[in-house]
Amino acid sequence: MPDTGTSDAFVAFERVQKSYDGETLVVKDLNLNMPKGEFLTMLGPSGSGKTTCLMMLAGFETATHGEIKLDGVSINNIPPHKRGIGMVFQNYALFPHMTVAENLSFPLEVRKIGKSEREKKVQRALDMVEMGAFGGRRPAQLSGGQQQRIALARALVFEPELVLMDEPLGALDKQLREKMQFEITDLAHRLGITVVYVTHDQTEALTMSDRVAVFDDGRIQQLAPPDQLYEAPENSFVAQFIGENNTLEGVVQEVKGETCTVKLDHGEIIEAKPVNVSKAGERTRVSIRPERVEIDKSRLGENAHTLKATVREFIYMGDIFRTRLSVAGNDEFVIKTRNAPDQVRLRPGQEVEIGWMPEDCRALDAT
Ligand SMILES: Nc1ncnc2c1ncn2[C@@H]1O[C@H](COP(=O)(O)OP(=O)(O)OP(=O)(O)O)[C@@H](O)[C@H]1O
Ligand SMILES: [Mg+2]
Repeated sequence: MPDTGTSDAFVAFERVQKSYDGETLVVKDLNLNMPKGEFLTMLGPSGSGKTTCLMMLAGFETATHGEIKLDGVSINNIPPHKRGIGMVFQNYALFPHMTVAENLSFPLEVRKIGKSEREKKVQRALDMVEMGAFGGRRPAQLSGGQQQRIALARALVFEPELVLMDEPLGALDKQLREKMQFEITDLAHRLGITVVYVTHDQTEALTMSDRVAVFDDGRIQQLAPPDQLYEAPENSFVAQFIGENNTLEGVVQEVKGETCTVKLDHGEIIEAKPVNVSKAGERTRVSIRPERVEIDKSRLGENAHTLKATVREFIYMGDIFRTRLSVAGNDEFVIKTRNAPDQVRLRPGQEVEIGWMPEDCRALDAT
C-alpha cells in the first residue's frame, strides 16, 4: 500500500518525539502515514519504542514534540471515548469483577447498542476466539492465554475503525497463534478495520501485515511491504533483523550504475548491488540470503562470480537442507537448498564453489 499524503492519511505521526525523563528521546522523529484499512505492524527489538508509540496513539501518553492525527484531526482534540479505538495491550486488563460476557458487553453498552444485538455480537466475538462456552466465567478463572483471547474479543466486539494491538498473541501456543493470526487479518480486512499491531515475531509480522515498520533505537529503520523488507533491506540493521542473512565485509572498489565491485577483507573480489554505498573506498557489509546462494554453477548466469567454500555442517531439515560453510573467512555462512530429488547433500570437509547473481547481493552500510 503506498504511503499517502498527510491530508488523506487516517493515522498520521508527524515529527513525533517522546521523552519520559526530559533527557533521552525514546522516540526520535517519527513520521508515519497510514491509509484507512491498512494493517501495519511495528516490529523491533525490546525497548525500541513500539509500545510508547501505541500509547501515544491511544492517548495514554503525550508526545513531547510533533503531532499525531486521526482522520486529519489532532489526537489531543478528540476525547478518548470518541476515538473509537479498540485496544489490546501487553498487560491485558480485563475488568475482574465482571464475567467474560459482561466484559465484552461493556463497550457495546457504552455505545448504546440494544440488548439482543449486544448478545449476538458478544457470542460471535467469543466464538471467534474459541471461548464460546466461557461467557459466565470471571477473568480470574481463566488461564493467561484465555484471558488474552478475551481481551482480543473485547477490542473487536464493537467493530472499531482503528485497533491497536500490542503482542496480543504472545501467550498462545503455536497452533492457536497461527489460527488467530488468520482470524485477526481476515476480520480486519472484511470490516475494513485499520490496525496497528506490535510484535517481536517476524514471521507474524511478515505474514499478517500490509506494511511493516522496523523499529530500532526510537526510529523507523525501514517501512515497507513484507516482500520488499525481506528482499530489499535498505540497511544492515534491517538485513540482519529480518530473516536469516549472510554478511561479508570489505571495501568498495568501484561503483558502476547498478553494480559495484567489493574487495572483501579476506582478499576475494565480488560484485554486488550498491544500496547503501556510493563511492570507492567506502567500507561495506554485503548481505546475501541463504536461499539465493547456488552450489550448482549451471543455475547461475555467465558473469556470476564464484567463491571457494568449505562445508562445515550439513543439516537435514525435511523440506530443506541447511548447510554451514566457511566462505571468505566467515565460518557461519549458511545456504539453504530445497530437498529436491536431484539435490546433492554436501559432506563436512568437502570443498565446493558457490555463487550468486550480483543483484541478490546487497552492499550495505558497515556501521
Ligand atoms: N513509563 C515510562 N517511564 C520511563 N521510561 C519508559 C516508560 N515506558 C517505557 N520507557 C522506556 O522507553 C523505552 C521504550 O520503551 P517501549 O515500551 O516503548 O519499548 P518496546 O519497543 O515496546 O519494547 P518491548 O518489545 O520490550 O515491549 C525503553 O527504554 C523503556 O525503558
Ligand atoms: Mg512493548
